[in-house]
Amino acid sequence: MKKDRIICGLDVGTTKTCMMIARTHLDGGLELISTGYADSAGLHKGVVIDLDAAAASIRKAADEAELKSEVSVDWVIVGAAGDHFQSFNSRGAIDIGGNRHEVTEEARTQVIAAAQSVPISPDREVVHVLPQEFFLDDRGGIKNPVGLFGSQLDVNIHVVTCQIALNQNLINAVNRAQMRVKKVVAQPLASAEAVLTRDEKELGTAIIDIGGGTTDIAVFLGDAVHFTKVLPVGGTHFTRDLAIGLQTTIEDSERIKKDAGTVLTERILAEDSVLVPGMGTRAARNVSRRVICSILRDRAVEILELVADQLRKALVSQNLIAGVVITGGGSMLDGMVELSEEILGMPVRQGLPLGIRGLPPELSHPVYSTAVGLALFGAEEAVVRKKKWGRAGGTPWLLNRILSLAGN
Ligand SMILES: Nc1ncnc2c1ncn2[C@@H]1O[C@H](COP(=O)(O)OP(=O)(O)OP(=O)(O)O)[C@@H](O)[C@H]1O
Ligand SMILES: [Mg+2]
Repeated sequence: MKKDRIICGLDVGTTKTCMMIARTHLDGGLELISTGYADSAGLHKGVVIDLDAAAASIRKAADEAELKSEVSVDWVIVGAAGDHFQSFNSRGAIDIGGNRHEVTEEARTQVIAAAQSVPISPDREVVHVLPQEFFLDDRGGIKNPVGLFGSQLDVNIHVVTCQIALNQNLINAVNRAQMRVKKVVAQPLASAEAVLTRDEKELGTAIIDIGGGTTDIAVFLGDAVHFTKVLPVGGTHFTRDLAIGLQTTIEDSERIKKDAGTVLTERILAEDSVLVPGMGTRAARNVSRRVICSILRDRAVEILELVADQLRKALVSQNLIAGVVITGGGSMLDGMVELSEEILGMPVRQGLPLGIRGLPPELSHPVYSTAVGLALFGAEEAVVRKKKWGRAGGTPWLLNRILSLAGN
């Protein structure tokens, strides 16, 4: 198999680590070859807190994907999250010549650099610089100004930054798992890539990925990113609330949440109950399902109100013509779509990953949105690189492994 057509997405989530190996086709399509899965270890609220444990779960997911496909993975596109991710919008302008001049690729790069010249704290680095809209002599709505004529070029951009140290910890965990990182992608953008349609991005939509340890938000308007945010709350908080409220184990709480949980408490019959195992030697007891689910509902309301607050602060709520898409494992909790509609006050749908061929039905599930999105990002990047350099590059497998082992 030609190596320069292989793309690997690695989603290091708080609860699960997932590797997707895919192949690009000449027609621009992407086809899934294999996947690997492992329960995550060494992560808390989206960030690595134990290097060895995180590296072991990454290696386990990679081993499974490699074994099934007989491809050895050198480079990965890795998704990163955690509330250290921050974002802002900025504008830049350059003069491209007194008399009307043609905008060159270089001028495009220069104006983006001008927009980016906002000081950021020395402990942070830029992860994404995403052009939203170009203006030529104040005429906006331009996606690509190259080749057009004008005198002044402006651009609005969205910039995503993160803490250097926390990002490096993730990269080190991947290196320790014997792979190298080609690109770090903010998880909300990866999920959006897999889940949102072109129309939704154009009309205006917010994607909310409710994961295990984080809730990631990305807002698209006019086919461009306008807002990104990672909140440090997710599905594990629902489970913990149940464990505390019901005085039972995390394992039993997780099972009860998935099997009997709903946030639509008003639909539960008064007599419905759930057998809750006791902790240690304590006996199991029947608990009202309404009581159990009101614990879940309280947490869901809290998270969705935090999301609503962020959308209000971003001043975008009124522009989300295509409403909201929820994805991630937390979106699987029964009634989340309905409750989100009630709290956010707009239409909500659940988002499943799309855009990759050969995705088996069991992987067409909201927990895989980020991993699929990372593979799609990798495919997009390969196309850009090919255009720039004539072909997709790659380090020979052995050299790559030696560099990884040497800690490079
Ligand atoms: N059917 C279900 N009902 C309720 N919760 C569910 C269901 N299925 C999965 N979850 C929850 O989804 C969460 C895991 O989601 P996901 O795999 O998207 O998170 P992650 O990617 O590991 O974490 P993060 O993105 O926050 O770092 C867990 O807390 C799990 O309990
Ligand atoms: Mg996730």
